Amino acid sequence: MTDAPIPVPASFKDARITPERYAELYQRSIADPDGFWCEELKRVDWIRAPSQISDVSFDRDDLHIRWFEDGVLNVAWNCIDRHLPARASKPALIWEGDHPSRHHAITYAQLYDHVCRFSNVLKGLGVRKGDRVTLYMPMIPEAAYAMLACARIGAVHSVVFGGFSPEALAGRIRDCESAFVITADEGVRGGKPVPLKANVDAALELAPGVKAVLSVRHTGADVGWVEGRDHWLHERLLDADAHCAPEPMNAEDPLFILYTSGSTGKPKGVLHTTGGYLVWAAMTHAYTFDHREDDVFWCTADVGWVTGHSYIVYGPLANGATSLMFEGVPTWPGPDRIWEVVAKHKVTVLYTAPTAIRALMRFGDEPVRAHDRSSLRLLGSVGEPINPEAWRWYHQVCGEGRCPVVDTWWQTETGGHLITPLPGAHALKPGSASFPMFGVRPALVDNEGNRLPETGAQEGNLVLLGSWPGQMRTVYGDHQRFIDTYFSTYPGMYFTGDGARRDADGYWWITGRVDDVLNISGHRLGTAEIESALVAHEAVSEAAVVGYPHDIKGQGIYCYVTLAAGREPDAALEKALKDQVRKEIGPVASPDAIQFAPGLPKTRSGKIMRRILRKIAEGETGALGDTSTLADPGVVDSLIAGRKG
Ligand code: WTA
Repeated sequence: MTDAPIPVPASFKDARITPERYAELYQRSIADPDGFWCEELKRVDWIRAPSQISDVSFDRDDLHIRWFEDGVLNVAWNCIDRHLPARASKPALIWEGDHPSRHHAITYAQLYDHVCRFSNVLKGLGVRKGDRVTLYMPMIPEAAYAMLACARIGAVHSVVFGGFSPEALAGRIRDCESAFVITADEGVRGGKPVPLKANVDAALELAPGVKAVLSVRHTGADVGWVEGRDHWLHERLLDADAHCAPEPMNAEDPLFILYTSGSTGKPKGVLHTTGGYLVWAAMTHAYTFDHREDDVFWCTADVGWVTGHSYIVYGPLANGATSLMFEGVPTWPGPDRIWEVVAKHKVTVLYTAPTAIRALMRFGDEPVRAHDRSSLRLLGSVGEPINPEAWRWYHQVCGEGRCPVVDTWWQTETGGHLITPLPGAHALKPGSASFPMFGVRPALVDNEGNRLPETGAQEGNLVLLGSWPGQMRTVYGDHQRFIDTYFSTYPGMYFTGDGARRDADGYWWITGRVDDVLNISGHRLGTAEIESALVAHEAVSEAAVVGYPHDIKGQGIYCYVTLAAGREPDAALEKALKDQVRKEIGPVASPDAIQFAPGLPKTRSGKIMRRILRKIAEGETGALGDTSTLADPGVVDSLIAGRKG
């Protein structure tokens, strides 16, 4: 990695943030945060402007995070109404369906109409300010309408990714005591239907507290129906009023809950609030992508993940941008689909995940070169570390060497980008997330929590020293878990769960999770969740799950399974266990390898030594380190012998 950094191209010399401006603004954001945020909060229209900036303590005995506390605003107003005078006929969304023949644009005026009517439908069903509403949706415009309608009336949405199983959906509905679900008859991905309504019906057997289910008719498939509980959106829209006044919300009122996996236990309901989140989403969208009025911005994420929340819906729409929403998959009907869409809609900024880039790379350059990409000016990457080889291919082939690649590091918890290059400010190093966003203070600590020096090359655990407006505020319903998860490992600091290094030039490189969180194709999963799905099978007595390197997915799921006495491993049981995980969590969590193991490596106190399991799964059996603390060192040899290659 001794190559010289790739300089800022001439096309970005007039970017909003130049190298000098970055240095000046970053310095100001740290030295004079109140002054800095007083300016930045003006990105948002306030019903009542906040008189104070922040009130934050990372002390675990007095943990609180509040931004713009006495401000009053409405997110939907900011994403729609305020653009109407200048942008009524500008496309807010461009929808590209799973099938290439299906696409259309929705202007800001139309978005206003859809969202107001949708808001009135929700009110008609009894949804009130503060109620939790679960969305289990395909990637169709109604997903965005539903989110914005919740925001408009002050309801709190919880979007559950459509790839999660009924069991997983039920758990998330119950956890936030959501009495309302919005879904569709079916989704379609890569030509295949996804039975969303049927999954909701199954989930509600396990979550009986739901009063109303609102379904979008999307494919027209036959679906089950519970009279009194189930409603069609198109029927309810018939008499829905076309105007709905936006609810004035306090800056710290909840905007949404989004479940994400941690290293222990069930998924956590990450709670984001109104003012700080919106300022952060809008600001990062504007700076990272050097947003311009005529951009066609395409983030390929699903709205079921935070990337879809912040960079399909809230960030771009707050900035009056045109945001492209894609229902399908990058490789269907052919491996050139992404580039066909880029050419068709003249996409200027493309924001996708390394796993997609690696999958496309396998098909070679031809499918890319088959389409006109002259509209592209900037590329982005998100969700997992990008290997330099994939970075270079993305930059050279997809972006014709003209388009900078912004490798944005952040998390569900952070609301938006925390470490990323800015295209007009930073020379790029392939694989490096580069420099902190304004107001962000990353630091490295060793395993004992000692701060590593702030200069020179260093590697350690990545922490953040202070708050930023887009930071999550709590784990829904379990504030103690919020404190324990993020502020107790290294007291006084937010622990990201990631490892990182900073090179001699000050560039940040994210090295991946240092906890038991997996990143499978950019989808975040906890080993504990997969283990509990496995042990729920009657044949299993114990399970341990680790990640291992996977060429396309970044990480694969490797499961060690110990069977109950009297049970013998065979192919049928292996399949049954994979099905079990799909059933409990969803297809995203399908194990890549299952190794039946007579015993797991444990310390004398009974703790499983995951480090050893990781090394064996990675095939690094020569570097197992110290195994002398194991209760039965012989276990290791049998694990090595049984490794799934
Ligand atoms: C990883 C997705 C390296 C990281 C926005 C983080 C990354 C986790 C990058 C959060 C990146 C995300 N480089 N790693 N550019 N972006 N990650 O909550 O491990 O789904 O902690 O948020 O993804 O995943 P989440």
